[in-house]
Amino acid sequence: MTQPIPPAPPAPAAEDAAGTIAAIATDRVLPVIALPDAADAAPLGEALLAGGLRCAEVTFRTSAAAAAIRAMAALGELVVGAGTVLTPGQVDEAVAAGARFVVSPGFGPAVVRRCQELGVPVFPGVQTPTEIQLALDHGLDTVKFFPAAQAGGVDMIRALAAPFRSVRFIPTGGVSAANAADYLAIPAVLAVGGTWMVPGQALAARDWDRVRSLAAGAVAVARAARPPR
Ligand code: 3PG
Repeated sequence: MTQPIPPAPPAPAAEDAAGTIAAIATDRVLPVIALPDAADAAPLGEALLAGGLRCAEVTFRTSAAAAAIRAMAALGELVVGAGTVLTPGQVDEAVAAGARFVVSPGFGPAVVRRCQELGVPVFPGVQTPTEIQLALDHGLDTVKFFPAAQAGGVDMIRALAAPFRSVRFIPTGGVSAANAADYLAIPAVLAVGGTWMVPGQALAARDWDRVRSLAAGAVAVARAARPPR
């Protein structure tokens, strides 16, 4: 049986949404995190901040997601979003925990609608012109391009950006320190996402210094790239 959707938590102010997008556009690199244990969220967040990042996406791939979002948002300096969000219920859970943006692997109208009701920026995943038009029809101008490498990488984004001149892309999936600059060189790319700054091995070993160093490396790549349009 479908669960009823609980009442909406208070919507963030409009300037929060604009500020969130501006923070992502400034960082240009979005670490994608799958955290098994929410107890690690605060030190992980501190490591990302120490490396120079200000934004992070915590995915609903683990049951610790909401608690991890809450702990990282409580640091006060990180703009924390929720990833792998597949249902309106997860949108509510994420926003109640302090998520300031929502990312989905694909285009889910119910998730998009719920985010819009709450005034939370949402970046649904797309791969095709049809999916981009669907996003435009829903009033969106920023989408995740996923999985970026497998879906055609840099060439595909350039081809898609030609007709969709107002659309900004966040390629994720197969992006790494080695190729992030190629994606960031495309004016239509707002930011790149990826797990390479928070490898599972480093999380398992609680190797926060490694996370800090990978984050700092990503920041250096982003700073060397030209700004998005
Ligand atoms: C995502 O969750 O968006 C991607 O799976 C991240 O892909 P990556 O592990 O190749 O960075």
